[in-house]
Parts: sequence; structure tokens; C-alpha cells
Amino acid sequence: MQAVGVIGAGQMGAGIAQVSAQAGYRVLLSDVSRERAEAGKAGIAKALDRLVTKEKLTSEARDAALALIEPVESVAAMGACALVIEAATEREEIKRAIFAEIGTVLGADAILASNTSSIPITRLAQASPDPARFVGVHFFNPVPVMGLIELIRGLATSDATVATVEAYAQSLGKQVVRANDAPGFIVNRVLMPMLNEACFALGEGVASVRDIDLGCQLGLNHPMGPLTLADFIGLDTCLEICRVLFTSTGDPKFRPAPLLVKYVEAGWFGRKTKRGFYDYTGPEPVPTR
Ligand SMILES: NC(=O)c1ccc[n+]([C@@H]2O[C@H](COP(=O)([O-])OP(=O)(O)OC[C@H]3O[C@@H](n4cnc5c(N)ncnc54)[C@H](O)[C@@H]3O)[C@@H](O)[C@H]2O)c1
Repeated sequence: MQAVGVIGAGQMGAGIAQVSAQAGYRVLLSDVSRERAEAGKAGIAKALDRLVTKEKLTSEARDAALALIEPVESVAAMGACALVIEAATEREEIKRAIFAEIGTVLGADAILASNTSSIPITRLAQASPDPARFVGVHFFNPVPVMGLIELIRGLATSDATVATVEAYAQSLGKQVVRANDAPGFIVNRVLMPMLNEACFALGEGVASVRDIDLGCQLGLNHPMGPLTLADFIGLDTCLEICRVLFTSTGDPKFRPAPLLVKYVEAGWFGRKTKRGFYDYTGPEPVPTR
């Protein structure tokens, strides 16, 4: 494959650029400005340095990966990319504006993919240059660590598009699961009701933060409890996904827990704001209830 374009150099876009370069692809990375794209590349350099320190990567491999990543001023530079992955902020109007811009340069056979966690792929495809060459490619956070990619086909996505992006995903060393375009796809559809239910249980006084987390972690043999995981994902993101599931299905089983709404209204988003179901200001997370 020729170069891969990555739009959005935040936590997901930077991760996608990193794993693509480590797999040997040339990567053009854009954001709202060249400075933001450069900052994304600087973050990747730090992440690769950590891998070298831990002896999980050689310094030659780090240098080779970094040399493949080129921050660019805008998507206008992505005309020669065979695959362009949009990983910008989760707001539909932002993604639509990006698709209009990329439509003016995208090659006749090139594929546009979105890393959206919750916006319907079929609807987004309507704003893309060609719905047959549009697909959802849902990476997990942190991208270099997580081994899964969900591939989501919209109604008009062609078989060739799915096959090309599946081959790219596998070339990154990721396992691929295919989902049809439905709210939450597979993983968030199953996960979010569990995280939301943990919030209901906490809000109703069923148990403490520690006991809900420890109970689920050991009782279900999960690597971490649901409240820890919600704090890690971001409570604002969890609420947004619950709302998408609830409004798009109309099914009351997806209604957001009042305590989750309250925490988000308080600005307690989890790890990223140092306060969620745990307090992260000290050396160890401390349960808050
Ligand atoms: N965070 C997660 O766990 C996760 C997991 C899977 C998918 N996603 C999806 O990935 C996407 C990005 O999420 P993130 O967590 O990296 O967010 P983020 O806030 O870390 O990064 C978003 C980036 O997009 C940039 N951006 C905004 N408008 C832009 C534009 N017009 N052109 C180019 N870049 C623009 C921002 O400057 C920012 O750098 C979202 O669609 C999100 O739903 C997130």
C-alpha cells in the first residue's frame, strides 16, 4: 500500500500513526494545524523512546518508524494516500467538514475510514466522497497496546473496501472483528450497559466503589473493575456513548445512570481530570465513595 493518511493527531490518531509506521507504512499526519500535527509526532517519539528504554524496540526501529511519519499542514497533502483514516474529535459536524475537504483530493481508488466510536457509519458515508469506499475502522485505546480492530461496514461499503482495510488491520498485527453498522458496534454495545449498571449500583448504594470494582474484577475474572475502566475511558465519553445507544435505539435499558450524568456535569471525567470514581491526585488512585 502507498502512504496512509491520518487526520487528527490526538491520542487515537497518534496511536494509529505510530502502529502504521511501525508496520512500515509511510504516514502523513494532519490536525487543525501543522503545529498540532508536529506535537502529535513528538508524543509518538516519546512513546517509542519508552519502548526502547524497556528494551521492547531497538533504537534503529524507533528511528525508522519516526522517519516514516510526516506531519502535514492539511489534508490537501493526502492526495496520494491509498487509505486515509479520520481520527478527529467525536463531533459529527467536524467529521463532515473534514470529509468535504478530503473529497477534493482523495484518489479515485483511495479509501476513507473513520475511527468514530459512536456515529453511524452509513450516515457518515453520505458526507464522504464515495460511500462504497467508506468504512468504520474502530481502534481501541491505547492503540499500540490493544490487539483489536472492529471493522464496520455501512450499507453502501463495498466488499473490496472491507477486504483492503482488513488486510491493512492485519498487517498491523491486530485481530479483526467485523460488525454491521449498529449503535455501539460490538464492543461498546456490550460494555457500556455493564459500566452504566455499575454506576446505577453505586448510585443506589448497593456497594462501595472498591467493592463493586473488586467484586466484578475477581468474580468475572476481568483485568479491572467497571468503575476503574469507566474512569480510564473517560466518563464524558462513556456518557456520550450511552446517550447514542439510548437515543438511537429508544431502548430504556441504555438510559444513562443519573450518577454518571452528575459526575460529568461536575466535570469529573475520570483519570484525565484527576477525579472520577477515584481520586488520582496522589500516588495511588483512592476510591471516592
Ligand atoms: N479515546 C478513546 O478511547 C477512543 C477509542 C476509539 C475511538 N475513538 C474515537 O477516535 C476519535 C478521536 O478521539 P481521541 O480520543 O483521539 O480524541 P483527542 O481529543 O485526543 O484527539 C482529537 C484530535 O482531533 C483534532 N481535530 C479536531 N478538529 C480537527 C479537524 N478539523 N481536522 C483535523 N484534526 C482535528 C484535535 O485537535 C485533536 O488533536 C473520535 O472519533 C473518538 O470517538 C476514541
